[in-house]
Amino acid sequence: MATVCKCTFLLSLCFTFFIFSTASTQEADALLNFKSFIDDPKNSLSSWSNTSGVHHCNWTGITCIPTPSLYVSSIDLQSLNLSGEIPSSICELPYLSHLNLADNLFNQPIPLHLSQCSSLETLNLSNNLIWGTIPDQISQFDALKVLDLSRNHVEGKIPETIGSLVHLQVLNLGSNLLSGSVPFVFGNFSELALLDLSQNAYLASEIPTDIGKLDKLEQLFLQRSGFLGEIPESFVGLYNLITLDLSQNNLTGKLPLALGSSLKKLVSFDISENKLLGSFPGAICDGKRLKLLSLHTNFFNGSIPESIPECLNLEVFQVQNNGFSGGFPNGLWSIPKLMLVRAENNRLSGELPDSISMAAQLEQVQIDNNSFTGKIPQGLGLVKSLYRFSASLNGFSGEIPPNFCDSPVMSIINLSHNTLSGQIPELKKCRKLVSLSLADNSLTGEIPPSLAELPVLTYLDLSHNHLSGSIAPGLQNLKLALFNVSFNQLTGRVPSSLISGLPASFLEGNPGLCGPELPNPCPDGHPERHSAGLTTLTYALISIAFAIATMIVAAGVFVFHRYSKAKSQTGVWRSVFFYPLRLTEHDLMTGMDEKSALGNGGPFGRVYMISLPSGEQVAIKKLVNFGAQPSKALKAEVKTLAKMRHKNVIKILGFCHSDVSVFLIYEFLEKGSLGDLICRPDFQLQWSARLRVAVGVAQGLAYLHKGYVPHMLHRNLKSTNILLDADYEPKLTDFALDRIVGDAAFQSTIASEFAHSCYNAPECKYSKKASEQMDVYGYGVVLLELITGRQADDIESSDSLDIVKWVRRKVNITNGALQVIDPKISSSSQKEILGALEIALRCTAVIPEKRPSMLEVVRTLESLKAGGCVPNLELSTWDSEEQVQPPPA
Ligand SMILES: *[C@@H]1O[C@H](CO)[C@@H](O)[C@H](O)[C@H]1NC(C)=O
Ligand SMILES: *[C@@H]1O[C@H](CO)[C@@H](O)[C@H](O)[C@H]1NC(C)=O
Ligand SMILES: *[C@@H]1O[C@H](CO)[C@@H](O)[C@H](O)[C@H]1NC(C)=O
Ligand SMILES: *[C@@H]1O[C@H](CO)[C@@H](O)[C@H](O)[C@H]1NC(C)=O
Ligand SMILES: *[C@@H]1O[C@H](CO)[C@@H](O)[C@H](O)[C@H]1NC(C)=O
Ligand SMILES: *[C@@H]1O[C@H](CO)[C@@H](O)[C@H](O)[C@H]1NC(C)=O
Ligand SMILES: *[C@@H]1O[C@H](CO)[C@@H](O)[C@H](O)[C@H]1NC(C)=O
Ligand SMILES: *[C@@H]1O[C@H](CO)[C@@H](O)[C@H](O)[C@H]1NC(C)=O
Ligand SMILES: *[C@@H]1O[C@H](CO)[C@@H](O)[C@H](O)[C@H]1NC(C)=O
Repeated sequence: MATVCKCTFLLSLCFTFFIFSTASTQEADALLNFKSFIDDPKNSLSSWSNTSGVHHCNWTGITCIPTPSLYVSSIDLQSLNLSGEIPSSICELPYLSHLNLADNLFNQPIPLHLSQCSSLETLNLSNNLIWGTIPDQISQFDALKVLDLSRNHVEGKIPETIGSLVHLQVLNLGSNLLSGSVPFVFGNFSELALLDLSQNAYLASEIPTDIGKLDKLEQLFLQRSGFLGEIPESFVGLYNLITLDLSQNNLTGKLPLALGSSLKKLVSFDISENKLLGSFPGAICDGKRLKLLSLHTNFFNGSIPESIPECLNLEVFQVQNNGFSGGFPNGLWSIPKLMLVRAENNRLSGELPDSISMAAQLEQVQIDNNSFTGKIPQGLGLVKSLYRFSASLNGFSGEIPPNFCDSPVMSIINLSHNTLSGQIPELKKCRKLVSLSLADNSLTGEIPPSLAELPVLTYLDLSHNHLSGSIAPGLQNLKLALFNVSFNQLTGRVPSSLISGLPASFLEGNPGLCGPELPNPCPDGHPERHSAGLTTLTYALISIAFAIATMIVAAGVFVFHRYSKAKSQTGVWRSVFFYPLRLTEHDLMTGMDEKSALGNGGPFGRVYMISLPSGEQVAIKKLVNFGAQPSKALKAEVKTLAKMRHKNVIKILGFCHSDVSVFLIYEFLEKGSLGDLICRPDFQLQWSARLRVAVGVAQGLAYLHKGYVPHMLHRNLKSTNILLDADYEPKLTDFALDRIVGDAAFQSTIASEFAHSCYNAPECKYSKKASEQMDVYGYGVVLLELITGRQADDIESSDSLDIVKWVRRKVNITNGALQVIDPKISSSSQKEILGALEIALRCTAVIPEKRPSMLEVVRTLESLKAGGCVPNLELSTWDSEEQVQPPPA
């Protein structure tokens, strides 16, 4: 009996094992079959192989569940550039519940056959090239809980049968080409927590009223689609809603009366850019969670409710471009986290209280074109985070308080078109001020000489006041792109370098001014007194800079010595090659000497060219100044950079590191950098070649920003970091070094090295946080170099303006745009070049938000290349404060 028992036991064990292993083989086979249909250019599925010895549950992207035995439950293959056809064999995996193929290149209709996967709950095909309509048979997916088809090319109407997917918790059809009206079936999705139909420009539909039944809905995104008609009354039933975005549609009529009081969990409420009217949504602050409240660009009128300060968490308050009247609610400025207030273009009135100083997080206030009166409050100067205050076209009066620009980050002030009087206070503390407009007031007294000490002041408009006295010679130190003092009562000699290059109209209406190009020549006399003093100062600065440079070099040598010793003692070197390179540390060490050094290197170290025994050449960058990154993290970061593949991004072939040094090995390009090319006296590239370089650089940058995962910033874009291959195809180098040397080391190195580089966007001075827009600015500067044939930081040019200011000054003059174009380019491509100039000016806009994205730049440049027309030649797309005229079309 006992034997039998044992036997049965063993048998059943064997049997279980047998089933287990067959099931397992079947699963592996199903996966291999799947793989055979897939195009995998990066070989990401290399672990998917029955010869590798790795269990299929450990293959890339596979997760198994342990019950009843190991079965594949999830396939996660996002962002691998996969294409091909998604085969139905995948449904042979009986427990597959989760399939994520997002962010690939699948180019096919919606794979309906996946509805045969009996356990499938999540299907994510977001950001592929899925095309065609949503077929009626979509109803077969009735077991799905999550369906994400966003960011594809799905077109046509949403079929009514979609209403069968009653278990859906997430339905995302955003950013497609859906059209027509949305069916009345959404009431069926009783489990739905997220619904996204945004960015379907061809929809023309009312919002189905049955959406109001979805009482579990937390996120509703309908922005930038073609929704029209009224916001359904039923929306008051969405009492779990956290985010509501209805912006940029064609919605009309009034808001449901009880909307505010029912949606108590709202954090974000955006109904901007519609045609809504009536009064401000009442009780919108009852829930107290609201962070973003945006009603801008509608036809709302009446007053802003006194209850707004109950929104204790409010950060963004945007009501501009409506017909609101009355004053701001009393406690508005005591909302502790308030950052942004935009209320321009309304009919608001009343005074700004001194208590504005309580808004300690306030960054931007824009209230232009209203009927505000009273004084500019003293309290404004106490808000230390304020960087933009714009209150033009109001009825502010009285004197400007002396502390009005005391915020250490203040960069844009516009108080033009008010009735301010008295003198302009001395501006001492606004070291970050970029733009100051006090035009069209009743200001008297002199232009304060302290303006000359503001290091980044670029736009100064004091026109149409009653200013008197002479223009202080010191003001010519400022490299102003705009200096408008027309229609005042100024007298005396105009400092000569102030007027050279500026339109005469910026000085007109001052009969007492004299100077070379003015109606009144100056009586003969003393040349400008201060110039001797200035020269001395300049020399002093140069020698200090020289001393610092010498110290840096000395420090570099010291590091090198220490490192060599360390090597001979410990010899701990590690190399990682991403390409088959036959290169030893010995080759490296002996190859790197003065002779092989290329240029003088950047702030992070020199670059050397080394010929390998195989005859290949590689470029080695020796990183100094890298922070204390542990070697494991370092390796991961370099690997992340090395995995980039783009024709406009330099290849990292490998790297070596010890405790004190890191050497990055790059492919070597013999043409050198774009910067070197431009500064050669015989720089001759024709426009078509320059445009190709511009497009290539833009594509490389767009790839860093949006194409590669993780997204990256370049952070050090300039023409000397753009290398050219034999066909003048550009490749970005020196990108994202912050990831290798660590952010702190990067910041401090960059700060000392590039504080005055004109590739740096103006906001670098007040914002430590690197952004895509800063890269875009640097790109704009490179584009200007290509157009003008001038180096960006051209210290030798006579007027010593950096390129951005030089170009802006020129284009301010009628027909000046033509003067900035490199005379060496043949004029047959003038239209294209002016198109490119417009892009460069937009990229170098002072206000970061006004700069285009790199993807937009690529598209626009490519349309130039294709001979298309320039899309945006209207004035509205220009930085209004920069007074730039569009180039003549
Ligand atoms: C691997 O799988 C393929 C296809 O499923 C099959 O033809 C081959 O025999 C398998 N090889 C091994 C070693 O199991
Ligand atoms: C997967 O790999 C891990 C670690 O490498 C190992 O412990 C585990 O047993 C593997 N799983 C299977 C099913 O082979
Ligand atoms: C992915 O595919 C796109 C389009 O074919 C290509 O431009 C890109 O370089 C590829 N990316 C990678 C990382 O292979
Ligand atoms: C689908 O995948 C994309 C890309 O990874 C991701 O951003 C998105 O959140 C996923 N969708 C859902 C519903 O999880
Ligand atoms: C809504 O769901 C019910 C089952 O819950 C189903 O009978 C009905 O057909 C669905 N409506 C639509 C329009 O699919
Ligand atoms: C709004 O409707 C007008 C015509 O009625 C159309 O031209 C416009 O594109 C629509 N706007 C949006 C955002 O759909
Ligand atoms: C708001 O506008 C409506 C017309 O759209 C008008 O009837 C109403 O009187 C206005 N209310 C205020 C307070 O201006
Ligand atoms: C000022 O606002 C009114 C609407 O209140 C608008 O019609 C007008 O165009 C605005 N003016 C400027 C200069 O923007
Ligand atoms: C200041 O405001 C006026 C009127 O709104 C506008 O025309 C001008 O462009 C603004 N200037 C700057 C520098 O922002």
